[in-house]
Amino acid sequence: MTSDTRQRASMLRVDQAGEYGATRIYAGQLAVMGQSSADARKIARMADQEARHRTLFDRMMVERGVRPTALQPLWNVAGFALGAATALIGPKAAMACTAAIETEIDRHYGEQLDQLGEDDPELSAAIGEFRAEELEHRDTAIKAGAEQAPAYPLLSGAIRLGCRIAIRLSRHI
Ligand SMILES: [Fe+2]
Ligand SMILES: [Fe+2]
Repeated sequence: MTSDTRQRASMLRVDQAGEYGATRIYAGQLAVMGQSSADARKIARMADQEARHRTLFDRMMVERGVRPTALQPLWNVAGFALGAATALIGPKAAMACTAAIETEIDRHYGEQLDQLGEDDPELSAAIGEFRAEELEHRDTAIKAGAEQAPAYPLLSGAIRLGCRIAIRLSRHI
């Protein structure tokens, strides 16, 4: 593999891990919140989009022979736990989780698009499209009261830090 191919494989690996993690976070939130409240319905809609993002990255990984992160079992449990824990604090904390994660993902996808330039139109198109939807998720979460969650700055800061660490780990492991 050339270094470019390796770099793009690593991008795909971390992105698939992130989208997978997102589906697990929302699954944890919906397990606590049920399906019927207005907030739960918003979360279910976002979860559907994450599932679509994940499916596309899954397919690209198969086509390109890129292995998934070995940390997938960890993101399975950690994502679900983060979702359930924030939903147990309350719906606004669940939304604060989304706002924090999507803020990091927007930055992460933006960096990837800069790095890719014109090198990989297929990957760039997927990242660009998903990034726009992640920003909608962030806006949805903020409109739903994310910033009124208890201890919002602390909660948000901790989740953003966790997200950055997860991105770093999934790039290589
Ligand atoms: Fe996504
Ligand atoms: Fe999202």
